[in-house]
Amino acid sequence: MTRARAMSATIKLPYRTRLILAALAVFTFFMMGMNAHAADAVDGVSTAKTAKAANTTLSEDDKKCLECHAKPKLEKILADGKKLSLYVKPKAFADSVHNSEGCEGCHSDIDAESHGKEIKTVANKRAQSVEMMETCRDCHKKAFKQYEDSVHSALLQEGNDKAPLCSSCHNPHATPISKNAAADHVEPVTCNKCHEKIAKAYATSVHGVAEGDEALSCADCHRTHNVKAAGLGEHLKKECLSCHKDTVATHKVWLPNTGRHLEAVSCAACHSPDAKRRVNLRFFEARTPQTDTEKVGVPQFTRLANAADGANGSGLDSRALWSLLQEFSSDVPGGKTVLRGRLEVHTGAEAHQMADKSKAIKECDTCHRAGAESFQSVMVSMTGPDGRLLRHDAKKGILNSAGSIESVGGFYAIGSTRIKVLDILLVLTLAAGIGIPIAHFSLRWIFRRSREKQAAMAAVSPGDGKAFPNDRRSSDNPPN
Ligand code: HEC
Ligand code: HEC
Ligand code: HEC
Ligand code: HEC
Ligand code: HEC
Ligand code: HEC
Ligand code: HEC
Ligand code: HEC
Ligand code: HEC
Repeated sequence: MTRARAMSATIKLPYRTRLILAALAVFTFFMMGMNAHAADAVDGVSTAKTAKAANTTLSEDDKKCLECHAKPKLEKILADGKKLSLYVKPKAFADSVHNSEGCEGCHSDIDAESHGKEIKTVANKRAQSVEMMETCRDCHKKAFKQYEDSVHSALLQEGNDKAPLCSSCHNPHATPISKNAAADHVEPVTCNKCHEKIAKAYATSVHGVAEGDEALSCADCHRTHNVKAAGLGEHLKKECLSCHKDTVATHKVWLPNTGRHLEAVSCAACHSPDAKRRVNLRFFEARTPQTDTEKVGVPQFTRLANAADGANGSGLDSRALWSLLQEFSSDVPGGKTVLRGRLEVHTGAEAHQMADKSKAIKECDTCHRAGAESFQSVMVSMTGPDGRLLRHDAKKGILNSAGSIESVGGFYAIGSTRIKVLDILLVLTLAAGIGIPIAHFSLRWIFRRSREKQAAMAAVSPGDGKAFPNDRRSSDNPPN
């Protein structure tokens, strides 16, 4: 960096006035060099920002462009028949952070000879924005890379024409100057305009109403540029825990098996008190219990689930689920595909309606009782190619049916009060390969007071879709 060296050489001079003059000269030189060095100024040198903040006059070159483009009525007709305004507000541009780059900084492909005389065909506004977006990469490699790692970028690649581009959130001709981008450069409405329902739900939530130092934006949980699909892994839960560090400790006080609960129940399922809850069964590849990995990016999920569901598409029953699991297990050498359950809220909006702790769900029997509302709605889901969940409805019976018990591992006994001893017993029985009828029988044996009822139970076949979890909680009823 010759500029830096020149600067320190100047500073060694003995006379104060000369020093100031020299510094000024270097500063001017520095300013003049800005354009040429824009690219390395961006993702690093912080002094550049202050230097540029002072520059609000337009360069001669830019004034030339603006001779035509400062006319509010200048427009062109696009191939889709719509009009595109070609107006650029000179004052806004002069005040913007990109003034230092000049029009050329982003529009270097303009040919002075033919420009404005020959008509350039542009399919539509969106196509032009997508094409122009590439210029941002030249100077903002970091932000661009983060964006490319996002669900929004994945959507763009898929051809989704609602996915945000750089210019959806930053007006390239009026990007305000700011020393503190995170705090005040972009208004928080940037997410809201496309996610209205969620923004509305969020506004009155415990986070939405937090003020001052505690105020939260969408980006505090989702990030701005590398927004990840909500259902992808556990990144959102990690965000919660990064601010609420003592979550495990505060819940342990009243919630037994805290670890298991925080794994099997989403935070919002307890903290959005008015939300409807449901069970989401997700696909994992199980090779050994230690190396479970979630199955991701299976584009044929929707097709296979539809096929398994059959013509009327009323939701997967346990047989359909079994065939689906077989299908997905064929490509897991030495292992199989299993399901892991999690209690979640129904909609994205409900996930953002979290209330303060006094309203959180604490009563065990909200979940641990026969016929609990939370277990009346079930879906299976898999992460699709863009990271978003592909969902398919399932019948609630699959949680309790004998056929799915093994594959719904870790979530089989929901809806009834769960006692650790029963789990251990079941796991041992399954591991020993004795199978479900025996487990069924043993459990009955422990809990049945009457011997006759026990005998009746032993006769129930394992394939009748009415295995023990269900039976356990109805153990006072006569078997059917
Ligand atoms: C003599 C007037 C004039 C000047 C000077 C001028 N433009 Fe244009 N510009 C136009 C007209 C007219 C169009 C519409 C052309 C069309 O329909 O394809 C246009 C279109 C554009 C477009 C839209 C995309 C395209 O290429 O059609 C951009 C971007 C643009 N000008 C940027 C600039 C920049 C940057 C400068 C300065 C380097 C500049 N213009 C100078 C008249 C001018
Ligand atoms: C920071 C990069 C950047 C700079 C600097 C810049 N532009 Fe643009 N310009 C863009 C982008 C990106 C688009 C595409 C618009 C969009 O995506 O909404 C665009 C579009 C345009 C258009 C087409 C109309 C429209 O809004 O889509 C014109 C005309 C234009 N620019 C003129 C200029 C002029 C004149 C200057 C200088 C005074 C300038 N631009 C400086 C990035 C820039
Ligand atoms: C020729 C280089 C160049 C190009 C191309 C460019 N920028 Fe910039 N941009 C800069 C410079 C220089 C700054 C000011 C230094 C800084 O803040 O990092 C800046 C600042 C910004 C800021 C504000 C950062 C802050 O700290 O407040 C945003 C947002 C931004 N640019 C977005 C864009 C977008 C979107 C595009 C594409 C349409 C784009 N830029 C294209 C050079 C460029
Ligand atoms: C969904 C809205 C959104 C999109 C899309 C977006 N940005 Fe940003 N950007 C923001 C917000 C909000 C900030 C303010 C800082 C923050 O909260 O991280 C920001 C900050 C910036 C900054 C300054 C701080 C930094 O992170 O370096 C740059 C540069 C920038 N954006 C460039 C881009 C570029 C280039 C693209 C396209 C690849 C882009 N942005 C796409 C919303 C967006
Ligand atoms: C220009 C419109 C637009 C803007 C601005 C925008 N998004 Fe999106 N976003 C979409 C679209 C379209 C989708 C795909 C449809 C959907 O899932 O809602 C999407 C998807 C998402 C997803 C994934 C949803 C899932 O199912 O997993 C998240 C998370 C998300 N956006 C968060 C944000 C955040 C946070 C911001 C602000 C930093 C933001 N979005 C700004 C249009 C936008
Ligand atoms: C306190 C953290 C937090 C904040 C703040 C937050 N979200 Fe979320 N968001 C979440 C969580 C957690 C989920 C996942 C919910 C689930 O799948 O159970 C989510 C899911 C989403 C989704 C996907 C919804 C779907 O249909 O699956 C979108 C889109 C989204 N958020 C956008 C936003 C927007 C826009 C804002 C700001 C108005 C925002 N979020 C603020 C935590 C947050
Ligand atoms: C089984 C339901 C349930 C689940 C799951 C749950 N919570 Fe809670 N949480 C509660 C209840 C009930 C309280 C209020 C406890 C009290 O006040 O005694 C609470 C309190 C809190 C508090 C306030 C702590 C304090 O005492 O100051 C925070 C923060 C919190 N939860 C965050 C989370 C996060 C983050 C998650 C997910 C990782 C989560 N919770 C999962 C039920 C739950
Ligand atoms: C950027 C930090 C941050 C993140 C990330 C965050 N929170 Fe918060 N949370 C806060 C602040 C600040 C408050 C309001 C002050 C308070 O009551 O602690 C709050 C309040 C809460 C409360 C109410 C606590 C009470 O005492 O009544 C709950 C519950 C909660 N958050 C859950 C979550 C969940 C679940 C997530 C993840 C989806 C999450 N938070 C992510 C900062 C955060
Ligand atoms: C929001 C629903 C919900 C609430 C409220 C709830 N639980 Fe649970 N609980 C679950 C789910 C889901 C599981 C996991 C079931 C599984 O592992 O198959 C579970 C598991 C358990 C387990 C077994 C843990 C293990 O290791 O297998 C016990 C014991 C338990 N809960 C007790 C309680 C008690 C006591 C309360 C009240 C203080 C309570 N739960 C509140 C949903 C809830």
